[in-house]
Amino acid sequence: MATMESLISMVNRIQRACTLLGDYGGDNVNALPTLWESLPSVAVVGGQSSGKSSVLESIVGRDFLPRGSGIVTRRPLVLQLHKTESGLEEYAEFLHLPKRKFTDFAKVRNEIQDETDKITGKSKQISPVPIHLSIYSPNVVNLTLIDLPGLTKVAVEGQPESIVQDIENMVRSYVEKPNTIILAITPANQDIATSDAIKLAREVDPTGEKTFGVLTKLDLMDKGTNALDVLEGRSYRLQHPWVGVVNRSQADINRSIDMIAARRKEREYFTTSPDYGHLASKMGSEYLAKLLSKHLESVIRARIPGIMSLINRSIDELEEEMYHLGRPVAIDAGAQLYTILELCRAFGRVFSEHLEGGRPGGDQ
Ligand code: GDP
Ligand code: NA
Ligand code: MG
Repeated sequence: MATMESLISMVNRIQRACTLLGDYGGDNVNALPTLWESLPSVAVVGGQSSGKSSVLESIVGRDFLPRGSGIVTRRPLVLQLHKTESGLEEYAEFLHLPKRKFTDFAKVRNEIQDETDKITGKSKQISPVPIHLSIYSPNVVNLTLIDLPGLTKVAVEGQPESIVQDIENMVRSYVEKPNTIILAITPANQDIATSDAIKLAREVDPTGEKTFGVLTKLDLMDKGTNALDVLEGRSYRLQHPWVGVVNRSQADINRSIDMIAARRKEREYFTTSPDYGHLASKMGSEYLAKLLSKHLESVIRARIPGIMSLINRSIDELEEEMYHLGRPVAIDAGAQLYTILELCRAFGRVFSEHLEGGRPGGDQ
């Protein structure tokens, strides 16, 4: 049991295999049209500059996302975090560069930029084709997060008028999947009623079952005001409790305050806060990461029977396709199908062990 692969990392592997086959949850046609959609993950949603990238980086504990004003994220970034044994070196790996280990996270940032431009051109267009990035580290929890373009209200110069709607449609296509958990990023220094994230979440998840509200920029609120109405669930009620965070300010970033120092500062902020001291153990990026990982694991566990039946159906379809391709399978498509078929068979075996064994393996 102890060696059983964690559910989250198994689901990560299926997602990567699906992307290789061109299935990333859009309306594309291939052998596994709905498997991706059946796999739970966490989508980060919010307006531009609400703090999405900052929250992701705090969860990872690393600087690695492109930054700047305007639409920086123009393709979805599927970020898979894999917890490794303590003492092991941290590294990142892209699905499109399978043999290269990145230990310099500044290079990860450049690669995300280059890979974005490759599909969208240098234009400010967006593309629904995701970039897959895995981070292996002793300092993360097992979790899959999807960074999406920020919701916006106006097109900027060089962008087609349709961009506002295009972004909203893309974000919606992710969050309306039944298995997507919504991480709704809302800045505390704006009225919650105008939060783009909450507007969309309210629409696709009216009961608030799959939405986690994250309140950023608590440190930027007007003196004499606080966010207790939101954090204690009175302003906008969700099934899960709101989590407040304090990310690095632009000045912190300019002064290269590292993530470890930033986490410490955040912790201090909450423990010493007259307003939020009583909530301190349930605030902050580290708490948020653990909460999401635990939730994702339980959602996957509940979905095992459904995923199993899809995998079995996929195996049948793949075998059928293989049969039509004939043997020996020399062409690329055949090789890919074969790989994914083997993967599906392996997942089928491990999932059934989880069903029978009950107890999770590697997570946390
Ligand atoms: P995104 O566009 O949603 O990805 O937002 P970013 O994470 O890039 O953040 C936009 C700006 O807000 C950056 O300058 C961040 O440093 C700043 N920022 C984000 N979160 C916080 C926070 O909690 N406190 C402070 N003071 N600044 C923040
Ligand atoms: Na931004
Ligand atoms: Mg961003």
